[in-house]
Amino acid sequence: MPLPAEPAAPARVVVLVSGSGTNLQALLDAVAERGPAYGAEVVAVGADRSGIEGLARAERAGLPTFVCRVRDYPTREAWDAALAEAVAEHRPDLVVSAGFMKIVGAAFLARFGGRFVNTHPALLPSFPGAHAVRDALAHGARVTGCTVHFVDAGVDSGPIIAQRAVEIRDTDDEAALHERIKDVERGLLVEVVGRLARDGYSIEGRKVFIP
Ligand code: GAR
Repeated sequence: MPLPAEPAAPARVVVLVSGSGTNLQALLDAVAERGPAYGAEVVAVGADRSGIEGLARAERAGLPTFVCRVRDYPTREAWDAALAEAVAEHRPDLVVSAGFMKIVGAAFLARFGGRFVNTHPALLPSFPGAHAVRDALAHGARVTGCTVHFVDAGVDSGPIIAQRAVEIRDTDDEAALHERIKDVERGLLVEVVGRLARDGYSIEGRKVFIP
């Protein structure tokens, strides 16, 4: 009898963070709990600032980290190229922006376009940008949620992979609503990264297909 085929190596994932890193933690927990069956492993964590809980989570997990601060580079383009280089050193199959509050540029997308995934706390194309939760509340929306999508050259405008809805309550303030969104978002991100890694995917125009 032929030996079973060698199981595919887990997809290598670099995660970028700017803050508390609870989405990163959800990915780390999935890898720890599910092992190779999850299909992906986090190989490094990068940030645009130091001293954040997201980096501390990575260090506690024994992962390599790197910091690329815009102000350390003469131009935004130089920062973007340096970030791309720092990520590339870890040979990722996928790069995940999990609360990374920077827009990447042409150099980064030239290298990682089509495999750079972002999670956003609103149902895109509604409420793109850095204040999605506040904007949904201010608009009087009754339903918002989260979107996991591929990053393109626009702001939160790339092909959508998956979305989940969250109802807005009359009693919600920004912090309460964001916490309820993040509860849902963490599960969605873990599910999407695992499916992309295990099953592969194709992007045709604005549509993402996972077999
Ligand atoms: C998440 O809700 C993520 O969608 C949001 O930041 C939060 C990070 O939480 N990102 C954006 O708003 C990007 N525009 P975390 O640090 O606890 O994972």
